[in-house]
Amino acid sequence: MQVLVLHGPNLNLLGTREPGVYGATTLAEIDADLRRIAQEAGVVLESYQSNHEGGLVDRIQAAGRDGTRFIIINPAAYTHTSVAIRDALAAVALPFVEVHLSNIHKREPFRHHSYVSALAEGVICGLGPTGYRLALQFAIQQLSRPAS
Ligand code: DQA
Repeated sequence: MQVLVLHGPNLNLLGTREPGVYGATTLAEIDADLRRIAQEAGVVLESYQSNHEGGLVDRIQAAGRDGTRFIIINPAAYTHTSVAIRDALAAVALPFVEVHLSNIHKREPFRHHSYVSALAEGVICGLGPTGYRLALQFAIQQLSRPAS
């Protein structure tokens, strides 16, 4: 596998969860869209959602051993709380893009800080599902760069 997409807690409820903030697109629709784009580019993509911090840490650790070359992650609420997810990302040292559907900087102050941004290649927020697409385009571009 080459690109791993990680979705944090409550993102399984997309479509019905606070649609005014997160929109009407479901997680299954986002994942299907990303799979289609990846397939067209000849890239293998796997998505994983968990409501549990440890599940996400375990999946990140596994990515360090299973051939994953790039991670796209929306840690959801764990963005603002999880040193464990940050440390797992640091441990595997794989390039990643942090994505948020909403513009976290336009929202409550507790959402303004991210534990993972300082390690990310880039951060996209506020663009809804388009943010995932742009992150994947970036990942595909990076993976197709000739090795230097
Ligand atoms: C989110 C923003 C977080 O603050 C929130 O806890 C989420 C989703 C987003 O995609 O906009 O669950 O990561």
